[in-house]
This record gives sequence, C-alpha cells and structure tokens, in this order.
Amino acid sequence: MNTTALPTVGYHLNHPRLQHWVQEIARICKPDKIYWCDGSLEEATRLTNEMVAAGTLLRLNPEKRPDSFLARSDASDVARMEDRTFVCPVDKEDAGPNNNWLAPDKARETLRSVFAGSMKGRTMYVVPFSMGPIGSPFSHIGVELTDSPYVVVSMRTMTRMGQDVITALGNDGDFVPCVHSAGAPLQPGQKDVPWPCNKDTKYICHFPESREIWSYGSGYGGNALLGKKCFALRIASNMAREEGWLAEHMLILGLESPKGEKKYLAAAFPSACGKTNLAMLIPPPALSGWKVTTVGDDIAWIRPGKDGKLYAINPEYGYFGVAPGTSEFTNPNAMAALNANCIFTNVALTPDGDVWWEGLTKQPPAELTDWEGKPWTAGCGRKAAHPNARFTAPARQCPSLDPAWEDPAGVPIDAFIFGGRRSTTVPLVVEAFNWNHGVYMASTMGSETTAAAMGKVGQIRRDPFAMLPFCGYHMGDYFDHWLDVGQKAENRPRVFCVNWFRTNEKGEFLWPGFGDNMRVLKWIFDRVSGQIGATESKLGWMPRYKDLDWTGLESVTPKTFEKLTKVDAEEWLAELELHKEFFDTLEDKLPEELSLQRELFKKTLERNETQNGNETQR
Ligand code: OXD
Ligand code: MN
Repeated sequence: MNTTALPTVGYHLNHPRLQHWVQEIARICKPDKIYWCDGSLEEATRLTNEMVAAGTLLRLNPEKRPDSFLARSDASDVARMEDRTFVCPVDKEDAGPNNNWLAPDKARETLRSVFAGSMKGRTMYVVPFSMGPIGSPFSHIGVELTDSPYVVVSMRTMTRMGQDVITALGNDGDFVPCVHSAGAPLQPGQKDVPWPCNKDTKYICHFPESREIWSYGSGYGGNALLGKKCFALRIASNMAREEGWLAEHMLILGLESPKGEKKYLAAAFPSACGKTNLAMLIPPPALSGWKVTTVGDDIAWIRPGKDGKLYAINPEYGYFGVAPGTSEFTNPNAMAALNANCIFTNVALTPDGDVWWEGLTKQPPAELTDWEGKPWTAGCGRKAAHPNARFTAPARQCPSLDPAWEDPAGVPIDAFIFGGRRSTTVPLVVEAFNWNHGVYMASTMGSETTAAAMGKVGQIRRDPFAMLPFCGYHMGDYFDHWLDVGQKAENRPRVFCVNWFRTNEKGEFLWPGFGDNMRVLKWIFDRVSGQIGATESKLGWMPRYKDLDWTGLESVTPKTFEKLTKVDAEEWLAELELHKEFFDTLEDKLPEELSLQRELFKKTLERNETQNGNETQR
C-alpha cells in the first residue's frame, strides 16, 4: 500500500494531526487498505453482509430477530484479560498496586514489534467516536484504528460514531488515539478464520500521560471496543483526576415517585452483580406508582455543577451486557431492547435461528447449537452459552430510557450506591454518616467471585468503588480524589451501601432481589428527600422494618429482615482486618482520613453496645 497518499474519505476531512497519525500507524501495521468510517446504516449493512459471507457473523432469523447477528469468538478469546492489561505511566508508582505496569519506553518497543505488519492482508478501519453526546461539555472524542469489522459495527452501537464526530473535531480538535489489531495478519492467499485473534500474544496498554490506548491480540469486548473500559474508565479516570471530575463504573437511574418527584441515583457494582438489571428495574405491582428510568448501565462521567451538585452523563450509546441470566423475569426492559439490531456473541443458536442462553427460559430447548458451534442437547452437561456471552444493543431500544439520557448538561445525582456480592456480614442497606465515611465504605467494598470474575469462586475480592480493574492510576490517589471532590461539592450526594446477596444457613438468598430492590430504592429516595427515619447502627443509618414498604411481599418476614440487616461486631472486626490488609498494599498513598475512619470504626465495634441505638427522623 502506498501509505504516503492521503486516504480517500467519503466526507470532508481536514485535520492534519489525525491524518498524519493514521498514516503513521498504517506504516507500522501495513494494512492492505485504509477505510474511514462514516457511521451510516449503509456502511454497517455492507460490513455485516461481508462478515456473514466470511462466516464471522451468522444472520439470525429475520422474523424473530431482525437485523441481528450471532458471532462466535475463538475459544481462547472470551473475556477481558486483566493479566494482559497494562497501565504505563513513566513512574511505576503512579500505576499503583492495582495495575500491571510496564515502563512506557519498554511498552512502546514491545508494541512496535508486535504491531509491525499486524494488519497485513486486512483493512484498517478508522473509527471516529464520541464518548458522550457530541458537543456536550462532558464529552470526549476518540479515534480507534482497527482491523476488525466486528469492532467497527459494535462501536457503532456502543458509541456515537462516524462523520459527525469528524465534523466536531474540526481542524485540530483533540482526540484519544486508540490502536487495535486482532494480531492475525493474512499472508497472500491465506484463508481467513471467522474470529481472528492472536492466541499467544495479547497486550492491552494504556499511556496515561500521552492519553493513548494500544490493544493487540484480542477481538473481544472490553479488550477491543476501546471506548468502553480502556477510554471511558482507565484513560478518563486520569483525565478526571487532573480536571476535577469523576469517571466511574456506575449505572445511572432516574427514580420518580407517584407524586412526580424525581431523583437520580448512580450505583457502582463489580462485574456480574446485576448492574444492567438494576438500571432497568420494573417496580413490583404493589409499587407500580413508582417509575425507574435508565440513563446508563455501566459507566458514569460525573462533574460538579455551579449549584454545588454533581451531574452525570452516560458516555456510552448502547449496552454490552452479560446474556446468561437475562430474561423476561430478571430484566424485561433489556429483553425488549434485544428484539432487533443486536449482535450476540457466544450465545447458543436455536434450530429456528434465534438465540438462547442459560436462564433465558426455565426449560432449555431440547436441541441447540452451542456457543462453539457444536450440537447440544438438554441434559448433556455442558453450558449452551458461554458464561460471559454478551449482547450488544442500542440504548434507544430500551423502553425505560430516561428522557434526559442525552442531556448534554447531565442529570443531577442525589445518591451514590455501592454494592457487592456478599453472602454474610454486609447488611441489605446502610447509609453512610457523611461523605468521608461513604468514601471509606466504597473503598473497602468486597465481592465474592463468580465464574465471570477472576479468582476462585466464592473468594472475597476487594473491589473498591467497583473500580479495581478500571482505575487508571494509583488507588490511593483515587481515594484522595474522591475525598476532595466531595469536600468541594456543597450539595454532594448521600452515600449508601447495599447487598442483595445475603444468604441463610442453607445458602439460600434472603432477599428476593430484582424488582423488589425497588423497596430499597424507595427508602433511599425517601432518605434523600428527608421523608423517612432510620436507626443508627455501628455501620451507619439503617432502615427499621417499618421503614420499608412491604406491600405485596410476604416472603421477607420481620425475622428475615433482622437477618438481612444484622450487624455482627465479631464478623465486622474480622472484616476490618481484611480492610487493613488491603489498605496496607497502598502504603503511603492511603489517605490518612481513611486510616482514621478505620480506627474510629474499630473503636465503635469494640464498644460492647447493643446493635441499634439512636433513631432519627432526619
Ligand atoms: C463489563 C464488566 O463488561 O464490568 O461491564 O466486566
Ligand atoms: Mn462493567
């Protein structure tokens, strides 16, 4: 390819820095062609047709799932790879113990060698995208260069992508350069595989100082759709720290009371704790006067407003959700969003050309084709869908979408919620005494690992703010930043912790979850509006039985509620040792305030008082 010639573009382009960079990457990766994406439907249709012909996508039954496709990844490329993800600031200490670090010079040398010729025999697509509504003061632009058409069509769903972004960039607008290659060049005449990737070598590298992303070897999800975890969290958390805002692993939802009052909540949960379900919750019939609306299901960018409140946008444009477990029972809104225009990856295929995954229906179909393309029969003992199988769906198809979800000014946040998966110790809901206490609770969050997460199943993984795999700098500095943002915001949100996953002695869940989580959200709403009381526990403010609305729910008796909200001083003293173990890893970057919070908490637990003390109508 003659890489000195300017590429042909179907739209007006006059951004010398962008054009120069594209040429330079082409010189390294040596694609056969460069193609500038315009983001149009025609373009997406052409690319999906090409991928169907190549066997990368399978068109689903158009009567059942119009304009939707199934992709089967290589069996070695099925999830984010935390051990191949690197943050590369000049100073190792800036990456912190929460990130794998590579010295930037060393990383660049390695990347130059693996990317050399990595796009041979392929097209390099130029994908301009905006995280956040184009033109919003919250938004930032990126350009991803990729040799994967699957990435292009997925980025079109997950971000605002194409020509309008180029227009917004003008002659010299700023953008985050993102380079992605599946790492599978084609020799002349070599037959392609349906899911190109590099089985041996993978690097997902972030350069916080120069704000660049380089990803090699994987075509899957967060490793390859670089707007999501790489940009909107790891790079954006660095931007946010410098500029006084927050880039968070949070859903955003609107909560409207039967009287028409509205509040917005932002909630952080580790992966595989039901964030998408909570963001799209449908209240139980007894609370049907309440309404939950969805702003976002995974990421929030939050900025202080002039009125001292914090305002949030969802920088994404679609959902990249975990399919297994999603059903008409757990999330009818998500199911409606999946009716058309979706890409499903690693789910099973029904004989009539539709999709299926574990949990979709109570009874599995008798026969399926599994996620690897093999015949599957009910009772064969194998999972039909991969546990991390995903759907990629446009946000606009979600029936609960909030009317302000694209408001360039964001929505005002009244409460932060932090949650994890804990079978013991952590109560159903607790409100922090104040901001710094809330930061302590969020910084010591833990979650029991599931098949989708790293580590052994059932182990507690400390996942502060649900940001452990996504914070692009030292976690101690991140805590400090949170303390600082709260001190500066006069009308800061209240902070709550929740746990939907507490179990009884038999290991059964004590809380019904899903739509019934509305009962906890209602209490939070009422606390924020000063309309309901609480009792003071050693952990924070907690609801009494009478404070939750139990209409239509009989399974949670006062006795069950007692178990759900029990604060056991012994258990918490043991938990505090784990907090210390984690804090010790941060060494001198742990903010003093958080050590003090821990000391104070320990003293309170050691005082042998009855569990519940003061009551408040605050
Ligand atoms: C996700 C994750 O994919 O958190 O959203 O892993
Ligand atoms: Mn996530």
